[in-house]
Amino acid sequence: MSSTNMLVDKFGRTVNYLRMSVTDRCDLRCVYCMAEEMTFLPRNQVLSLEELERLAAAFTRLGVRKLRLTGGEPLVRQGLVGLVAKLRQLPDLEELCLTTNGTRLEDCAAELKKAGLDRLNVSLDTLNADKFRELTRFGDVRKVLKGIVAAQKAGFKRIKINCVALKNRNADEVVSLVRYALDQGLDISFIEEMPLGKIDSHGRAAEFIASAELRKIISAYFPLVPSSSSSGGPARYWMSPGFDSRIGFISPHSNNFCASCNRVRLTATGRLLLCLGQEYSTDLRAVLREFPNDEARLEEVIVASMALKPKEHSFDITTDEPQIVRFMNTTGG
Ligand code: GTP
Ligand code: 5AD
Ligand code: SF4
Repeated sequence: MSSTNMLVDKFGRTVNYLRMSVTDRCDLRCVYCMAEEMTFLPRNQVLSLEELERLAAAFTRLGVRKLRLTGGEPLVRQGLVGLVAKLRQLPDLEELCLTTNGTRLEDCAAELKKAGLDRLNVSLDTLNADKFRELTRFGDVRKVLKGIVAAQKAGFKRIKINCVALKNRNADEVVSLVRYALDQGLDISFIEEMPLGKIDSHGRAAEFIASAELRKIISAYFPLVPSSSSSGGPARYWMSPGFDSRIGFISPHSNNFCASCNRVRLTATGRLLLCLGQEYSTDLRAVLREFPNDEARLEEVIVASMALKPKEHSFDITTDEPQIVRFMNTTGG
């Protein structure tokens, strides 16, 4: 097995992180992620578990060391725990992660741990039950909180809360969320909303709040010291003295991180997207299905796709027009 990474783009960036969306379906309808009425993909268009495994194997042979399963909500996909167990056996894989909305964690955290999942990120934008129902259109925050406890009991370490910060909807809760994370020994990341898909619940421009402003609000209660630690994703971290939690900020608008991009993503239909904020892609499902036994060809197509990776996203937060029509649930972020 070669230890050389074959996945280098034309800007010299090495890709060692693959995000795989295992379904576009979700049991919530977060207002920044989906429209209220969504049409989901017919099953035959979604990659099978075997196809996902075959792709993950090819990517790890080429140099990927970190895999993250996303959705939609990955835990609504039948057979997900079995897939985790299979992926965990990939010889070169260093970290296998999952991003979830947490609603099903209470039932499956222990199984996921046993299957070999290394790390969990859980989306949670508010601790307030009414607000949670508004932001997710019908979710129950208590289920998510119980799910996080179950995941801790199952032995997961460095669980990270993801909070999409919206100026008029939940920015008043950042201090409570930080306090919750510090008390529970969780990491937390605040994310600037990205304009993917046309939503009708709010104007994206009006809801923008920069990470620096959030840090100012938080610092009034918890002093923040910059940290050089990294989780291999786009978050930059701060720590509060006396606590072990990392407080992260993902700032695609106010502090572009594209120059150090190390990742690509696979949609549930097997489209390899070279950037979250651009449409350059390769149809890997076609290759999988046309050449079921030709791993060399699959690898060649993946390596060649790196040339399509753009320099950066072109999100413009000053306009409400969706710059990318695809919703976040097709790529899982
Ligand atoms: P860690 O492994 O804990 O660092 O996780 P991560 O931040 O890589 O993954 P997660 O699924 O928790 O994503 C958190 C947020 O970061 C989501 O809103 C993603 O859309 C966003 N994000 C992740 N990667 C990128 C990226 O390459 N570009 C942009 N613009 N946003 C990203
Ligand atoms: N902008 C930023 N983050 C988003 N997420 C979903 N939609 C958006 C968006 N439009 C977040 C989810 C989840 C992560 C994978 O992406 O809250 O935590
Ligand atoms: Fe990479 Fe595109 Fe994300 Fe920038 S926006 S970090 S180039 S995936």
